[in-house]
Order: sequence, then C-alpha cells, then structure tokens
Amino acid sequence: MLYTPLKLRNIELKNRWVMSPMCMYSCKDGVANDFHFVHYGSRAQGGTGLIMVEATGVVPDGRITNKCMGIWNEEQAAALKKIVDFVHGNSESKIGIQLAHAGRKGSTWNGKQISLEEGWKTVAPSPIPYEESERIPHELTVEEIRDLVKSFKVAAKRAIDAGFDLIELHAAHGYLIHQFLSPLSNVRTDEYGGSLENRSRFLMEIVEAVNELLDENHPLFVRISGTEYAENGWDLDESVELSRMLKQKNVDLIDVSSGGNIHGARISVFDGYQVPFASKIKKEAEIKTGAVGMITSAEQAEEILQNGDADLIFIAREILRNPYIAVRNAFKTEEKCFFPAQYDRAKI
Ligand SMILES: Cc1cc2nc3c(=O)[nH]c(=O)nc-3n(C[C@H](O)[C@H](O)[C@H](O)COP(=O)(O)O)c2cc1C
Repeated sequence: MLYTPLKLRNIELKNRWVMSPMCMYSCKDGVANDFHFVHYGSRAQGGTGLIMVEATGVVPDGRITNKCMGIWNEEQAAALKKIVDFVHGNSESKIGIQLAHAGRKGSTWNGKQISLEEGWKTVAPSPIPYEESERIPHELTVEEIRDLVKSFKVAAKRAIDAGFDLIELHAAHGYLIHQFLSPLSNVRTDEYGGSLENRSRFLMEIVEAVNELLDENHPLFVRISGTEYAENGWDLDESVELSRMLKQKNVDLIDVSSGGNIHGARISVFDGYQVPFASKIKKEAEIKTGAVGMITSAEQAEEILQNGDADLIFIAREILRNPYIAVRNAFKTEEKCFFPAQYDRAKI
C-alpha cells in the first residue's frame, strides 16, 4: 500500500510518502538558496512520492519571520524553479508548495514577536492577539480580504509557472486562514464572521480563485487543524463539515494536522495522535486525507493506510533525520521505489 501509486487528477504519486511542509527559516528576502536546493533535492533522491515545499508567504507580511520563504516576486519564483526542475529531472517525485499567510502569528523570531522596526504590523480577522502580551493585529477590511484572496491567486500562478505539480493552502496551525475559521479568533459581524459558512468564506474564496488556475494536471490540497483543543473553538465536527464543503469546491485532499491557534492549549501528543482526525474526515466527508504527526516508521505508515484512515502519509521530523526513508524501506520489502541510477551499487 505504501508503494501503491495514487492518482490525483491526472498526476500520479509513485508512493504514499510525503515530505511534510517544514519552514527552514533560511531565506534572505524570501528567496530559496543552495541550502533549500540540497534539502529538497535529497528527499527527491530518497524516493519520496511527494515533496511539499515549506510554508511560503504570498505577501511579505504573510511570513512568520523575516527568513521565511516567499513567492510574491519573480526572483523568488526563479529560485524555486531551480529546485522544481532538479526534482523533475532527477527523480520520480512530484513537488508541491504550501502557500501561506501568517496573519497575527507573523512578525516573529524563535516564536517571539519582534519589534515593529524589525518586523511589521500584523493583520487578522479580528483585533485579538495570539498572546496577550503581543501587539493588537490590524482587523482586515473587506477590501483588504479581497486583495489577499488575489495575492493567493497570483502566488499560485507563479508556482504553477515555476513548474510545481500541486498547491497546498495552509489553513492550519493558527495562521491567517485558520484565524478566520475559528470562532475564538474571528468575532467579525460581517459576511466573514459568525456562522461556519461565513468563517470559511475567506478560505472558500481562495480555493475558488486558485482552482480557476489549476487544470487536470494540478491538484489542490488544504492543510487544516482538525481541532484547536479549546472549548467553543474550532473542532472536529466543523472540520468534517468544512471538508465536505471543500470537496464540493474540487479540493483533492485534506492534510489533517491540529492545534496552533490557541496559546497554551493542552495537547496530548503520542504516536499517530492526529490519525483519528484524518480518519474521521476521510470517512464522513468522503474525501482523501493525509495523516501527519508522530509517524516515524514504515510499519506505522502501512497500518494507517491499510486501516483506511488516510491516503497519504506526511512525515516531517523523521524525514529530516532520514531523507532516504522511502527507498530504504523499499529495499527491505522489495517494493519498487526510485533510487538514483548513480547509486546502483548501493542497492541492498
Ligand atoms: C522544523 C519544522 C517546520 C515546520 N514548518 C511547517 C510548515 O511550514 N507548514 C506546516 O504546515 N507545518 C509545518 N511544520 C509541521 C510539520 O509539517 C508536521 O505537521 C509536524 O512536525 C508533525 O509531524 P512529525 O511528527 O512527522 O514531525 C513544521 C515542523 C517542523 C519540525
């Protein structure tokens, strides 16, 4: 199952291993560099079915830190194209990019808010900071919200022109789209706040705008937080409902993470702790899901797939330790998996 290809629209992932998006905080002016080239390139050499490039800001103020990746200009797109071309020319991996806006969680370093001089004034659906001690974010006007929808679309166009196979929208971990979804961070009284339909309007508008660009060869994923672990907050039932709505809008897969929007929320973390969220969404919204979080072995990944809990396995920290996890495991089970021809003599 781990090595059974998965077709999404017209593209085929060779296996179910996905390099989960991970900010490397290593860019200057949002531009990818040699570090990123090796970082993503080596996971392609390791046989990973899909590589998801880290959270990438659609506008400068959409970054988490000054060193985050960006895709609001041509220089940034050109640097990413170099990585994409390497992956396509030297592996069987597909490569996607996670488009993001940090909202009230931007303008930070090492998880702490930085000064206005070093950073920027953050924005959010409502003037509620993530941490009490932080500056109050600017409450977005409807016009500004519409401009941001356009920024996501322009960023998606740049990504597709750079050759990316698919787009993932970052609607999880308490960043801007999640801030709109949650009734705890969104207390607006206009058409972007209140009911689930209104709180999800920003995401739906982005999905529609981006999907206008995507054809049968370019799938669309959305990463959500299945729950934010807070009373009266964003929860699993709303996640199921949202996933049904996203399916209607031609989203191909929900990448199911959790948390990130409520400072100090208590989260019980254990092996595969977010898998039940992916499973419930897959079954109840009848949409493909990705499982992520504390998945570290092929056996565990295989079990998740065999149980029908998810369609893809996103791995983050383990693939940093072990870039060849996909192909190494295939040696053991004698499954087919890409390994560079140059390395033939190292096949086990
Ligand atoms: C260094 C690092 C950076 C991360 N950056 C992102 C990111 O850019 N976007 C995102 O959605 N999740 C991000 N995450 C979360 C991971 O994608 C993943 O969901 C989380 O680490 C749990 O998976 P794991 O137990 O396999 O590490 C990051 C995690 C790490 C360790």
